[in-house]
Amino acid sequence: MKTYRFDRLSSLDDLALHDEPVPTPQRGEVVTRIHAVSLNYRDLSVVLGNYVHAVTPGLVPCSDAAGEIVAVGEGVTAWKPGDRVMSTFHPRWFGGRPHRTMGGEVYGSHQDGWLSEYKLCSQEAVVAVPPGVSFEEASTLPCAGLTAWTSLSGHPPIRAGHTVLTLGTGGVSVFAVQLAKLFGATVIGTTSSDRKGEVLKSLGVDHVVNYAAIPAWGAHVKKQITGGLGVDCVVEVGGAGTVNQSLTAVRWGGEVVLVGFLTSDNPGMDYFQLKGSGATVRSIGVGDRAGLEDLARVVAGGRLKPVIDKVFPFGEAKAAFEHLKAARHIGKVVVSVA
Ligand SMILES: NC(=O)c1ccc[n+]([C@@H]2O[C@H](COP(=O)([O-])OP(=O)(O)OC[C@H]3O[C@@H](n4cnc5c(N)ncnc54)[C@H](OP(=O)(O)O)[C@@H]3O)[C@@H](O)[C@H]2O)c1
Repeated sequence: MKTYRFDRLSSLDDLALHDEPVPTPQRGEVVTRIHAVSLNYRDLSVVLGNYVHAVTPGLVPCSDAAGEIVAVGEGVTAWKPGDRVMSTFHPRWFGGRPHRTMGGEVYGSHQDGWLSEYKLCSQEAVVAVPPGVSFEEASTLPCAGLTAWTSLSGHPPIRAGHTVLTLGTGGVSVFAVQLAKLFGATVIGTTSSDRKGEVLKSLGVDHVVNYAAIPAWGAHVKKQITGGLGVDCVVEVGGAGTVNQSLTAVRWGGEVVLVGFLTSDNPGMDYFQLKGSGATVRSIGVGDRAGLEDLARVVAGGRLKPVIDKVFPFGEAKAAFEHLKAARHIGKVVVSVA
């Protein structure tokens, strides 16, 4: 089978295609013929050296994929050949509080990922792709989709009457826009591009803010758009360089969900701004299997169609990574494997 690996971790040129044997499932394991893999910023950051955890070189990249079970090991009761499945970002986090060893099991950075023709994993590490959902669409759910779902599932979860602020038009943020609109919330979406702003509007965003044109967008959102109240939830994908703006935009009693680290500058956080915001700050790690199954039910119902910017053939996976790195995309970048 053909499998991609980042043989070294210095540049995207290190992505190399290997020929390896198709794995054989042991007890409790399944082999999936992969049809689609979606890319996340994390997959880039692993190779570009700005990922938040130490990484292992030589691994198969990518955490998010969908395909068809082709072989099952002894004792597998959950699946049979022909079943359509997608990966789970954390293969052993089924629900409840995250377990202690979770951080050491992440695909692409700590164990082999899914950018391959076949993948061996535990029967517990995949969930069903709902009928009517394509492999390409399903491949966008395990990380970006679930992260947006978890972000909006705080205490209280987002519902009608709430206001949600999303940053930029990447994979997580576009899912957050779609889910927040589905829940009946008002959505304020930032972007650096007026062209992308038009797409945000077409997805139902109520107020678009160009963060390049309005550097003090936090105060703008709070004062000009919410009349001084602030937003109920910020899906904070920017990280150290944007979190102070997010703390300005949030309302007393609201929530800033720490998701990402897209910015490279780190000006530090002001304790008095943090305390004075009156907001809860919740740092998340994608989400658990139960959340992915909940999200899959929403997508199965046809009320949310994942936004796929571009699908690249398997042989052009490096071009897919370059497309993500250029940040011209809106939503998800997908590699079609089969
Ligand atoms: N903690 C978790 O559970 C978790 C899960 C998933 C992802 N993440 C992290 O979340 C972040 C987003 O991931 P992703 O895969 O959605 O990324 P992505 O698709 O690569 O997002 C790229 C987009 O982000 C926007 N952006 C870049 N810099 C920005 C800034 N300073 N302010 C606002 N927007 C900015 C840009 O949108 P415009 O062109 O519209 O400006 C850009 O096109 C990454 O850091 C990722 O590692 C964390």
